[in-house]
Amino acid sequence: MFCTKSIKLAVISILSTVLAFASGLVAESEKNTPPGLILTWTGDPTTSIVIDWHRMAEDKDTPAFIQARPRGTDNWVAFEAERLPFPHSDRIVDRVSIENLQPDTEYEFRGSPEEKTYWFRTMPATLDRPIVLSAGGDVRHEKSWMSAMNRAAMEHDPDFIVWGGDLAYGNGRRRNVSRWYEFMDSMVETLVTPEGRVPPVIVGMGNHEIRGGYHRNRINSQADRERLAPYFYGLFAFPGDPGYGVLDFGDYLSIVMGDTEHSNPIPGVQTDWMRTTLRQRSNVAHLIPVYHVPAWPSVRDFDNRESRLVREHWVPLFEENRIRLALENHDHSYKRTVPIFRNAEDAGRGVLYLGDGSWGVGTRDVHDVEETWYLAEAQKIRHSLVITLYPDRKIVRVIDADNSEIESIIIPARNQ
Ligand SMILES: [Fe+2]
Repeated sequence: MFCTKSIKLAVISILSTVLAFASGLVAESEKNTPPGLILTWTGDPTTSIVIDWHRMAEDKDTPAFIQARPRGTDNWVAFEAERLPFPHSDRIVDRVSIENLQPDTEYEFRGSPEEKTYWFRTMPATLDRPIVLSAGGDVRHEKSWMSAMNRAAMEHDPDFIVWGGDLAYGNGRRRNVSRWYEFMDSMVETLVTPEGRVPPVIVGMGNHEIRGGYHRNRINSQADRERLAPYFYGLFAFPGDPGYGVLDFGDYLSIVMGDTEHSNPIPGVQTDWMRTTLRQRSNVAHLIPVYHVPAWPSVRDFDNRESRLVREHWVPLFEENRIRLALENHDHSYKRTVPIFRNAEDAGRGVLYLGDGSWGVGTRDVHDVEETWYLAEAQKIRHSLVITLYPDRKIVRVIDADNSEIESIIIPARNQ
């Protein structure tokens, strides 16, 4: 049923159930919720999960285990967790990585019998049902804004969430730890379905994840990255070292998460990785690059340094590899570009870029669409992209915080 590579497994079977009954039946709704709960992946989302169950300092004597089982079955299996520090906090994070799960299957889990039971769903092995993801970035200027967009996104029952950087605006600073507490509160309160399903989140790095915003040639090692961006590397298993990475969902979807000069330079090693990563996935129907600073800004100056670097080093790779859609952030607006190929509009070969990161932040005035050749649409509005994947196409529904549709877009799969 379950198997792990490196985690000791202890079957506690019905003992915990007996204890729960002995202490009196506690309604699930009255049980303790954790102060933070993050599901993500570092392996294939069709057969694995990473669970981070946060605990307050006073709960540090609670054994470091997460219990899990196929949803609706009888016997809990206890997975020994890696107990990690919450950076700049006395909270702790219990992390388990579970592998060899069944695709498209529901599993329930809890921190202990006294705590609320949640569940997750592994992704299907093939795209034989539509996959829904909700994407955006620039997540928490105000907790109420973040929570409102979370609720709107959850109306679409997404399989998972993608956030391309600028998460809690902690800037890697100790003094901003409360922003991360708000972020975690918002997730626990609003990124869960009424039935208790928790969608995994896939995050990338933005300038507000790291002290100083950009690497500025200060970074020579992973230790440097973790010192300057402690929350990002401490609180999210993916992408982890070195700050960018790819997740392959079977062979139908790959999310390629880049780092736009925050803890890694764009030119050189990362661009070599981007080239190889895209080329190796030539048969993947949905291959989606996600990163923070836009190649095609809707608010900022076209010639800003990071945008120029993305256009110079990554855009040609997107075009060579027939990428249909790339997700950008950072400018705090909604934008849709025209299909772009070799610095011109090209409906046949062009790449569509959607952004620009306004999940839960103050919005900004946008460039005039009529005056900006690469923009097809731009609005000063908070939004989320609800993307439904089919074998031959994706449908993007752009929604605002009231779950009203701003527009919808059909994008063919790469094999079409
Ligand atoms: Fe940003």
